[in-house]
Amino acid sequence: MLSNTESITSAYLLPPTTMSIATAAVNAVPYLTLNNGARMPGIGMGCWMGDDSNEIVEEMVKNALANGYRHIDTVIDPVFRLAVGIAHPFTFATISNAARVVGNEERVGKAIRESGLARSEIFLTTKLPNLAHHRVRESFEESFSKLNCGYIDLYLMHWPQARVGDRVLQEDEHPTFVDTWKDMEKLLNTGKVKSIGISNFSIKNLEKLLPRCTVIPATNQVELHPSLPQFELVKYCQEKGIVVTAYSPFGQYKRIFFEDPDFISVAKAHNATVAQVAIAWALQRGTVPIPKSANIGRMKENISLIHLTPEEMELVNNIHKKPGMHRSLVRFGDSPPDKIFGWTYEQLGWPMTTGGIVVA
Ligand SMILES: NC(=O)c1ccc[n+]([C@@H]2O[C@H](COP(=O)([O-])OP(=O)(O)OC[C@H]3O[C@@H](n4cnc5c(N)ncnc54)[C@H](OP(=O)(O)O)[C@@H]3O)[C@@H](O)[C@H]2O)c1
Repeated sequence: MLSNTESITSAYLLPPTTMSIATAAVNAVPYLTLNNGARMPGIGMGCWMGDDSNEIVEEMVKNALANGYRHIDTVIDPVFRLAVGIAHPFTFATISNAARVVGNEERVGKAIRESGLARSEIFLTTKLPNLAHHRVRESFEESFSKLNCGYIDLYLMHWPQARVGDRVLQEDEHPTFVDTWKDMEKLLNTGKVKSIGISNFSIKNLEKLLPRCTVIPATNQVELHPSLPQFELVKYCQEKGIVVTAYSPFGQYKRIFFEDPDFISVAKAHNATVAQVAIAWALQRGTVPIPKSANIGRMKENISLIHLTPEEMELVNNIHKKPGMHRSLVRFGDSPPDKIFGWTYEQLGWPMTTGGIVVA
């Protein structure tokens, strides 16, 4: 329950809302303190544009900053890190054409520079692509120069699995994620990044990584929402001092829990929206949701905070137990149904079977 948080200054208070959610209580977005003392705003703006064009990300980030967001989660572009002639790892064939560029560090950086806010007010996250585990420093410098924002607050290893060209490496091949992490630790000496962390790490892979770390990851960014609450992983990370960031807190495209009657009843009790319930639940369990919205109304809604009672928290905690509910909801590019970017669920340590269905 937000044990490592504190309220943020009045500069971060949300503007009065004039939407249908007007009666919901508007509270300050909390801050969390990372294991190195850095402070991270408890809600971020996700920048994976999905069906939306990447053209609008600059405007989205500007609007987000103008409406109270102070934490931006950038999307990296593996295309830039590829040698000519190698297939793009995310084809998004069902979304758009295969040549689609998903990364947006340059546009995000521009929006931040032009926001009129002091750089110190904004928390900026970017990531190391799977294709760059064997050249961490070089890839970091590319991100650093594309963002052009003075420094990066948080640099994440996007996935544990490395890829060299079109080949995904197995767990014991160099660079392993431990090798990659060792190179990421060295980045802290550059003064260009304040914290380092990981993403998509399970307990299984953390058990391999943590004993070999000099620097404990500050955060682990994973898929988290009422259909995939990952209680054990969240508890494990929190016990190790790792803040858990909740990506796809609304379930990306398949927001199945939005239609759950219990979920809706909690929203109605607060005269709030189901999205606000998802955010409140994420915050109150001490995680950091990073919802994406390109719509100003919805982005305001997503940081207009309500507070759930213990009974309501319990109700949401149990939604995944309903038939068909306990599952990943994210579409990972064109990965086959039993693998994610080349690793099986077993390699990832995710307790799932084909299609992301959680197995007990
Ligand atoms: N580390 C990783 O591997 C990884 C993987 C996936 C995502 N992420 C990060 O997490 C961020 C968030 O996840 P996500 O973008 O996958 O999914 P998400 O935030 O769960 O959902 C985004 C979708 O929800 C819609 N939405 C936003 N606010 C809403 C509201 N109040 N009511 C109804 N619908 C709403 C958005 O549409 P509108 O824009 O039209 O509002 C968009 O279609 C990403 O942008 C990315 O930064 C990281």
